[in-house]
Amino acid sequence: MWANRDETRIYDANAFKLGLFGMNCSGGLSLTKAPERWDASWDNNVKAAQLADEAGLEFLLPIGRWHGYRGETDTQGSTFETLTWACGLLALTREITTFGTLHVAFVNPVFAAKQMVTADHIGKGRFGLNIVSGWNPGEFGMMGVPLNEHDDRYAYSDEWLEIVKRIWSEDEPFDYDGRFYKLKDVLSKPKPFWGSRPVLVSAGNSPTGMRFAAASADCLFTTIPSLEALAAKIKGFRAAAPKGQLRNIFASCHLMVRPTRKEAEDYHHYIVHEQGDMEAAEYALALRGARLAPHLTGDFEKMKARLISGAGYPIITSYDEAVSTFQKMHEAGLDGLACGMINYIDDFQHVQELLPRMQRIGLRA
Ligand SMILES: Cc1cc2nc3c(=O)[nH]c(=O)nc-3n(C[C@H](O)[C@H](O)[C@H](O)COP(=O)(O)O)c2cc1C
Repeated sequence: MWANRDETRIYDANAFKLGLFGMNCSGGLSLTKAPERWDASWDNNVKAAQLADEAGLEFLLPIGRWHGYRGETDTQGSTFETLTWACGLLALTREITTFGTLHVAFVNPVFAAKQMVTADHIGKGRFGLNIVSGWNPGEFGMMGVPLNEHDDRYAYSDEWLEIVKRIWSEDEPFDYDGRFYKLKDVLSKPKPFWGSRPVLVSAGNSPTGMRFAAASADCLFTTIPSLEALAAKIKGFRAAAPKGQLRNIFASCHLMVRPTRKEAEDYHHYIVHEQGDMEAAEYALALRGARLAPHLTGDFEKMKARLISGAGYPIITSYDEAVSTFQKMHEAGLDGLACGMINYIDDFQHVQELLPRMQRIGLRA
């Protein structure tokens, strides 16, 4: 169907691309007890993936999670491992790019390189790798892997990725003598589909994360500090990388969109203030409070409400206003959003409302 990786959907001509984010995890991105919250069963994952594929969305991005957020709901306590998840979905979809999210510290690069090639062949060139250097001490504890100091984690990722890239491209056996890996006689076949390497994305936000992306990534996932600060942040990422290398800069969001803003806000109130899992929110706040939107730091009630509502930038408004927010993000230089929602199947009807509105203003073909 396509002649090379440049033609795959992740690089299509749409000015503002969309993907589903986090549906491999129970509860998705939100810490709510609402009964319609996401049941991350395999059948539900397939259904949501096929809806997204048929609607022309560009990608599926899973979350690499090994521990949940506790409380009554234990959001993300039940998760599918992302490489095997991607293999299954790549076999059952046609065009959508599907990522695996790998904690590089938890998996040997020779083994992972071959797993990813397998996924890429199953998907006929639609596999992408989201490289995670890691941050969560509990998850490293569970793996029995020391959580290195922040920049050392990126040094490890650099080495891991260098090995993987060589495995994907070199035809002769090689030895590798690095700081973390000493390898002998490395050779792996087959090579990725088309012989070109899978799309690499990175999701680090720190200056070191930025340098890592600038050195290695084709695309980037980032967070939106505020709409006002977005343009400068994206400019910084682009300036740090060789011109043209970062082909897509995406951010994460959670969507609660309805015909009117009032309906969206009422639903948000129900999800957060009537059905919020406070115990999970307390735990999440202790775990990742400092990494949360800095403008909320200090106001614990607001921070908890934000955590319950969902990870990523909140888009809680009418269809029309959501699309004008997309327009502003596009003007700031953003190429698209990875979207969480309360229920990826039931809420897809709302995404279907956004698509023609985006077409009308040229954000999508
Ligand atoms: C959109 C997005 C997706 C991410 N996905 C994951 C994930 O699935 N698992 C994880 O442990 N960390 C994830 N992260 C965290 C980052 O990969 C990274 O480890 C974290 O941002 C710390 O790096 P930094 O200090 O450079 O920002 C994600 C971050 C973003 C912005």
